[in-house]
Amino acid sequence: MLNFNFYNPTEIFFGENQIAEITKAIPKNAKVIVVYGGGSIKKNGIYDQVSQALRDFTWGEFAGIEPNPTYQTCMKAVAKIKQEGFDYILAVGGGSVIDGSKFIAAAANFSGEPWDILSKGAEISSALPIGVVLTLPATGSESNSFSVVSNSETHDKLPFASIEVQPKFAVLDPQVMKTLPQRQLTNGVVDAFVHTMEQYLTYSVDAKVQDRFAEGLLMTLMEEGPKLVSESVDYKVRANVMWSATMALNGLIGAGVPQDWATHMIGHEITAVYGLDHAQTLAIILPRMMAEQKETKRDKLLQYAERVLGLDIADEDSAIATAIELTEQFFHSVNMKTRLADYDIGEDAVNKITEQLERHGMTALGEHQAVTLEKSRNIIRASI
Ligand code: NZQ
Ligand code: ZN
Repeated sequence: MLNFNFYNPTEIFFGENQIAEITKAIPKNAKVIVVYGGGSIKKNGIYDQVSQALRDFTWGEFAGIEPNPTYQTCMKAVAKIKQEGFDYILAVGGGSVIDGSKFIAAAANFSGEPWDILSKGAEISSALPIGVVLTLPATGSESNSFSVVSNSETHDKLPFASIEVQPKFAVLDPQVMKTLPQRQLTNGVVDAFVHTMEQYLTYSVDAKVQDRFAEGLLMTLMEEGPKLVSESVDYKVRANVMWSATMALNGLIGAGVPQDWATHMIGHEITAVYGLDHAQTLAIILPRMMAEQKETKRDKLLQYAERVLGLDIADEDSAIATAIELTEQFFHSVNMKTRLADYDIGEDAVNKITEQLERHGMTALGEHQAVTLEKSRNIIRASI
């Protein structure tokens, strides 16, 4: 096992009716700005629950964080915060609202040009505190220190990370999933699955606990994912998927193990150029990444085949081929498409996405830095 520091200071309030807990979780004297997205929370009662919990607080709101939050919109929130003196952010939404809020929290306290946080990795020494009411289980953003923000003018979609922006608390009430459109339920299952794979499907360092936690998450998502997108879904299914998504990217399964993230880096470029949902890009790239990297990932692929999929691995090559095929079939089973052509994207993606990767210095991706630009090009071509 590799050396690691593990610190996750986000307090989780999990379960039905837990939104009310924010009354206790936010300091009484805070001036709270509620940050949210396109307004789904106004239709499904979450806004009302939040307003009720904040009734004794001084608070205001900023609406309009878009899916794949933009720097431009976030900076409008920063201006409002500075003008009106808010000192606590309550993010109510999915990964986009939370990521946007993290950038807003950092930018509000940043003395230079905030874009540098994303483009140059400029260091953040402080940020406004953030609390979260999660409305879409997928990204894990509610209890991690990562954020991904896009620039709508330059087609950059860039990540940053800082413990300063890690949420102080996150409310996870599975009931909020009732109003999620099918497409977002599918996205959530696939994103959580791929997060787990990016930290599991690398090479073994004898990290048995991390491996078995990861295998538990993969198996849970494969078991519950298809139920979540079916007609008769109940609380238990929602609860298991919601907790899986948080656990997939809260630092626990990634501690002390090598990590990949090549699928994500290519995926972000596809979103930046073609606007596909984040998880849609992952389902397209992951099967081709597994195939391209099947020699370097050989041992872990076999472990995945045997322990997660229950395959006989006596014939190793055939077990690996089947494991890749079953992974793609799993995406189909939750109604996710797995080809660029399914979104009417053709051959032009090969050059466009490769150029974006080059521009962002993504020329040696993966746990061995073995995914060169040429390999990424092959993966994208094979994904059409
Ligand atoms: O805008 P609103 O009204 O909130 O509607 C949203 C949005 O249209 C809707 N929605 C959310 N909760 C709902 C709901 N609709 C009905 N009922 C509810 N309860 O769903 C749509 C998509 O929301 P979004 O937040 O964009 O989805 P997701 O949670 O998948 O977040 C995706 C973003 O997170 C980034 C992605 O790149 C992408 O920008 N990621 C963040 C990560 C992190 N911080 O750790 C890691 C991930 O790999 C990922 O990169
Ligand atoms: Zn993701």
